[in-house]
Parts: sequence; C-alpha cells; structure tokens
Amino acid sequence: EALVYHDLFKKFGNWNICYLPKHYSNHSAYIEQFQVRDEDVWVVSFIKAGTTWTQEMVWMIGNDMDFENAKTILPVRFPYFEFDASWDENGNDTGTTKGKRNMTSMEIVHHMPSTRYIKTHLPFNLLPRQMQTRERSPKIIYVARNPKDVCVSFYHHKVLTEAYDKSIDEFVDEFVDDVSQSNYAPYWSHVKEFWKRRHQSNILFITFEDMKRDLRSVVEKASKFMGKTLSESDMQKLLSHLSFESMKSNPYVNYDEITDKLTRVHGTERKTHFMRKGKVGSWKEELSVQSVQKMDAWISKNRIPGLWEDVLGQ
Ligand code: A3P
Repeated sequence: EALVYHDLFKKFGNWNICYLPKHYSNHSAYIEQFQVRDEDVWVVSFIKAGTTWTQEMVWMIGNDMDFENAKTILPVRFPYFEFDASWDENGNDTGTTKGKRNMTSMEIVHHMPSTRYIKTHLPFNLLPRQMQTRERSPKIIYVARNPKDVCVSFYHHKVLTEAYDKSIDEFVDEFVDDVSQSNYAPYWSHVKEFWKRRHQSNILFITFEDMKRDLRSVVEKASKFMGKTLSESDMQKLLSHLSFESMKSNPYVNYDEITDKLTRVHGTERKTHFMRKGKVGSWKEELSVQSVQKMDAWISKNRIPGLWEDVLGQ
C-alpha cells in the first residue's frame, strides 16, 4: 500500500481503449482470487449497454454530487477492472501503453482506497470468486440494453476505435453468432445471469431503456440502493448533468480525447463520437430488413420474458 493514490491514477490515466478480453487467460487467476471489499461499488454490463452513463450516475450519487472531483476523467475515478485482458504479453497491441506503467489495471484497483468504484464487463461466472459465492457483498449495479441497440452501438464503436471497415449487415452476422463474437459473448447469458439475481439484496438491475424513459426514477432507485438521499435541487442538478447533451459535451466522460487519438493512430476520418445518438430504437434507422430478421430469429430463441417486450419490435 506504499503507492500513493494519485500516482496510481496518473499511471492509469495513461490508458488506452480495448475491446477483446483476448489475453484474459493471462489474468484469469488474479481475477478469480481478487480481494473484493464489501464497500466496493461495481458497475457491470455488456459493452455498449450504457455503462458510462450508469457509471457517472453511480459515482455522482456515491460521492454526494461532488461536481469538483467529477472533473477527472471517468476511467480514473472509476477504472475498468479487466482492461489489461486485451493486451498481449509484451503490451504490444496497437496503441496500448503497458510499457509505461508497472501495474495491471486489476492491480491498480487492488491498491485503491475504499470506496472503490469499479467497472467490469465480465460475465457473472468470471467475476472474482468472492462476488460469486457472496463471501463479499459489494454493491453491484447491472445495466442492460436491448440487443438491437447494443449491436448498432457496438458497430459504430468498432468503426470509431478499431477502424473496422465491414458493413453493419456483416457485423450483425458476427454479433448474433456467439462463436465468432468474442467480446464478452454470449450476450444473452451475460444478461440472464444478472436478471436471475436481480432480487439479490446487493444487486440492482437497471436498463438503458428505463433510464431513457424515466431517469428520475432510476436515480431514485439507485440512490436508495446506495443508501443516499438526494434533495430536490440535487436531483435537478444530477438529471441535467446526466442528460445526453451534457454528457456529450463533458470531456471527463465523453471519451473524445481518446477516440481522437485512436482516429489519428488509425489514420481514419472521425465518423462518429462515443456519445453517438443515445436513443432507444436507433436500430430501426440503421438495420436492413434482412438484418432485422436475423436478429429477430436469434432474439426469439433467447429472449427473457418480461424484459424489453415493448422495444424489441416483435
Ligand atoms: P449509442 O451508440 O446508441 O449512441 P457504453 O458506455 O456501455 O459503451 O454505452 C455507450 C452508449 O450509451 C452509446 O449509445 C452512448 O451514446 C450512450 N449514452 C452515453 N451517455 C448517455 C446519456 N447520458 N444519455 C443517453 N445515452 C447515453
């Protein structure tokens, strides 16, 4: 514990973005045995489900609306636990910065003082063992988003950050194929494992769609879950802070700096932003009839009764 908090964060600030937990196996033992604390607050999600939005909400509530310290980039306040799972052993993946710091993302989290705010995309059965066995009961906020919008959002994310150059229809094929889709797939079991546990006392299950429909009531639920009470004026400030327009122009959460960098690294033209549309149902504007049919077939085999009845278009 000799390392100083802010030094750790400075190092972690030297981060870069990643997608595939392809080097997960190098870190799996560490993750499995990771020492969880009861005071931890974890935001868990499938990628593109509204993770960033949820993180900012949870951090603001947990830190009593500390707007001053919210002016630090989110990945520093709220690190991505298994970030390093995308690196090769030498830290040689495009744009990674492992050579510049001497700790993994998981070790950085290990050294953080409580209360730790931690983001992960790991599915339930790959979380640190103490979370699975409930030997520790950190607060877990799981955010889920309907798979059609996740797919479209994910496609644009790949175009933006990986210079992915296939068409959206080709991407749909990859997305609904749980074998070729290596990013924390399969999607459905990721959601189902938390849906099953949604009544567990240390788990709060929320959806992107509920946040869009009625952010106030999600903030109320999250505050109650975190043992906080918000005044009406704090509520107003928070709702405004969490609006799409405000998050889109907030450099501490909008990832513009890093996506600018990636665009330069790839020599591509910036076609979109991390804060892209922030809507429910943008798949309707983007997916071909054929792709929608493919997704519908996959959804009808897997869907969760009671979830997204109104948004999946079936
Ligand atoms: P779109 O690509 O559909 O616009 P994640 O943080 O899990 O990667 O999710 C990113 C998605 O959440 C993006 O979706 C982004 O625009 C959306 N998002 C982020 N902040 C938001 C907000 N305040 N309101 C609505 N959507 C938001």
